[in-house]
Order: sequence, then C-alpha cells, then structure tokens
Amino acid sequence: MANVKLSDMKTSYASLGRAHKRMAYDIGYAKKLNLLNDAINTNGRVTSAIADLVDPGSLDSPDPDSADFGRVVEALKHFVRDWSEEGREERERIFSPILNVLREQPKGKVLVPGAGLCRLAWEISQLGHQTTANELSYFMNLAFEFLLKRTSTPNEHTVHPYVHWFSHQRSNATLFRPVKFPDVVPSSNETLCFFHGDFFSIPTEDKFDYVVTLFFIDTSLNIISTLEQIHALLRPGGLWINLGPLLWTSGGQAQLELNLEEVLRLSEKIGFRIFERTADPTTAPKTIPCEYTSDKSAMMKWIYQAEFWVAQKVCH
Ligand SMILES: C[S@@+](CC[C@H](N)C(=O)[O-])C[C@H]1O[C@@H](n2cnc3c(N)ncnc32)[C@H](O)[C@@H]1O
Repeated sequence: MANVKLSDMKTSYASLGRAHKRMAYDIGYAKKLNLLNDAINTNGRVTSAIADLVDPGSLDSPDPDSADFGRVVEALKHFVRDWSEEGREERERIFSPILNVLREQPKGKVLVPGAGLCRLAWEISQLGHQTTANELSYFMNLAFEFLLKRTSTPNEHTVHPYVHWFSHQRSNATLFRPVKFPDVVPSSNETLCFFHGDFFSIPTEDKFDYVVTLFFIDTSLNIISTLEQIHALLRPGGLWINLGPLLWTSGGQAQLELNLEEVLRLSEKIGFRIFERTADPTTAPKTIPCEYTSDKSAMMKWIYQAEFWVAQKVCH
C-alpha cells in the first residue's frame, strides 16, 4: 500500500510540465521521493515481522485495503507514543495523573480496556497491581505481540513514523527522522495478562478493583452500555479512573454523542460517585491539555483539553 502511494506521488511529479519538473528536481523533490522509498523499506522490516505473526486462518480478507494501511501507519505512531524515548513527554502528561492515583491505592486487580499498545497497562503492572490489558484491535494486539516476541534489547527496532504525511513538515530531516524503539523491553510477567477481544465480552463475574480508561470511552457506539459494563466489572467501592477527550467516535455513528456534563450526570445515574475538586489533589478532576501520537516537529498541533476524573462504584 505504501508503495502504491509512492507510485501515485511519482506519477503526479512526472505529470508536471518540463520547466516545473526541472525546478522541483533542483530543489530536491526527486531525491525526496527516493528517500521515501528507503523509509518505506525500513518500515517494511517492522511491518513484515508483524505480518509474519499473523495466523493466516484468522484473516477475513487477505488483501489489504487503504483502511488497513491507515491502521498500520497508526500502529507505527503508537510505537513512538508508547514505547520510544521520543514519546516520553506525551506519555508522561497523560499517564502521570493515572499512575499517581494507583501508586497511592492498595494493590489490586486493574482492567485497562482499549489498551492499545499496552504501555499504560505495563506501567500499572510495574507498580505491582495485577493488570489485565484488553484490546479489540487485531492490529494492535499483533503489534504488541511483536514487541513481546521479537525484541531482546532496547531500541532494537527503527521506524520512520512520519513519512506517510508530507504536510506540515519543516524539512526532510524532520520528515524522515528515524525513531528507535522500544525504550524499555516489555516482557510477559505475572502481574500483566491480556484479554484479546471485545471489552463487552469480559465476564462480569471477574470483578476488578480498578478500571482505567485512557482515550477510550468516546470510542463507544453506546456510552450508556460502556459505563454500565465498567460498573458491572468493578467490585462495590472499586474505582474507575478516566482520562480522555470526547471525540465521538472513530468506528461508526454513535447512538449518543454526549457533552462532558451529560457524561458525568450519566455516570452518577449508573452508580458512580465522582471525586470532587475539594478532595485529595491526586483524585480531584482536572483538565489535561495533551496531544495524541503527535509529531513533535510538525508545523501543526492538535491539543486536546482532556478530562481526568476518578469515580467510585456505589451501590444503590
Ligand atoms: C483511541 S484508542 C486509545 C488506545 C489507548 N488507550 C491509548 O491511549 O493509546 C481506543 C482503543 O480502544 C480499542 N477499542 C475500541 N472499542 C473496544 C472494545 N469494545 N473492546 C476493546 N477495545 C476496544 C480500539 O481498538 C483502540 O485501540
């Protein structure tokens, strides 16, 4: 797919008139397309190693489409955000409020639904909590499996995560910069386990002490069902820790698209007590300006004013 895009870009370049093509050549555009070719090959080493983990019988359609290509590009950016030194600042901004709460709480069972590439779940498990990372996306699960099974030293892998979008770049140096990962080698351990599949299929008899949702609840097609499931999965008195925006939704038309006040009112109706601003500063609600898998060097920034809160399951 990346090669198809490159070929389209080459065709567009070739369609320039003679004088303009000469000018583009003189400023280095043809060389830039060659650099893209090299970067695609480097990224291909990682994506092929991930594809090698695929069980062929598990694929509905063996032919990748442009949505698949988008998911692969997203996965490359998630490697940066979750598992590289370059992603540290972005990570710390959103992980710290959550980890600060869990550091202060008694050790218990934690569920992280929509865990993505699992860095947050892994950090929580490192605090000594028995952590379950849940993720529906086959792409994300394979990418994390690659980290677990095909990595033995820090910064062993290299990707060029930004090459698939030429917009908002200051230079070839920023566009083609390589990012090494992982900054630490994740390993399977007894405090981290996985539930691959739909969060709604996690049995509600398995009660958790904490459910942590990071950039997750707004992926719901039905936010009421999501909050009910979080409630059902918690033991009485258990805590739900949330951080994220309200960007309804990437996967289809949500049945409800609520504002923050409505989400908080709904949470109380379902049986949560949201910790208030006057309480302990670690559990008090706050607004966290943050980015999500951003390119730090780009000429464009998308800043979320993400909302953080902690809520306790109360029984009516
Ligand atoms: C916006 S991403 C956030 C990922 C991760 N929490 C992070 O911050 O990097 C939302 C994630 O939730 C996953 N997801 C969405 N619906 C899900 C469901 N019903 N069960 C499990 N995971 C789900 C998606 O596949 C995606 O990886």
